[in-house]
Amino acid sequence: MTREPQLILRRIGEENEIPYDLLLLADPSKAAIETYLRKSQVFIAEKNKEIIGAIVLCPLTETSAEIKNIAVKPAFQGKGIGKLMIQQILTIAKEKGYQSLCIGTANASIAQLYIYQKLGFEISEIKRNFFIDNYAEPIYENGIQVKHMIVLRRGL
Ligand code: COA
Repeated sequence: MTREPQLILRRIGEENEIPYDLLLLADPSKAAIETYLRKSQVFIAEKNKEIIGAIVLCPLTETSAEIKNIAVKPAFQGKGIGKLMIQQILTIAKEKGYQSLCIGTANASIAQLYIYQKLGFEISEIKRNFFIDNYAEPIYENGIQVKHMIVLRRGL
C-alpha cells in the first residue's frame, strides 16, 4: 500500500470553494451539509494542488467538538490518508482546547466503524432510526440498510 506521509491539513476560509464533491461522498444531503458548515471549520488535504481529502470540525460545547464529515477522493482511498487526516484533526482539536471529539457514522458503515475504533474512538451513543427520520430516500451500504447513527467519542 502506498502511504502519504507528507499530508498536511489546511483550513479553508470563506474565499475558498467548498469541496462539495468530496463532502457529498460522506453525507448525501447537501442541505444537511450546508446547515453544519455554517458553524464549522473545513480542512482540506492537497496533493499537487489537487484537493484529495476534506474534514469538517464543528464545535459542540466549549470542551467538545464533532467531526461532521470526512472524505477522501475515491482514487486516493485506502492509502492511509483518512487515518492521517483524523490523526491531524485530533491534534488540531486538542490545540484549540477541546477535551473530546466525537464522530457519527452509520450502522452499516463497517470500514468507518473499524477505522474510528482503531484510532481510539469508542461507541458512546446510538441514535436509533436517525437516517430514516432525517433522510428522504432509503440508503444502503454494504447491502445493509442505513438506519441508526453510531456516535463514537475519544478523549484528547
Ligand atoms: N474496508 C475495510 N477496511 C478499510 C476500508 C474498507 N473499505 N477502507 C479503509 N480500510 C482500513 C485500512 O486498511 C486501514 O487499516 P489499517 O489502519 O489497519 O491499515 C484503515 O481502514 C484506514 O484506512 P485509510 O486508507 O486511512 O482510509 P481512507 O483514506 O480510505 O479514508 C474514508 C477512509 C472513510 C474517509 C474514505 O474511505 C472515504 O472518503 N469514504 C467515503 C466517505 C465516507 O464514508 N466518509 C465517512 C462518513 S462517516
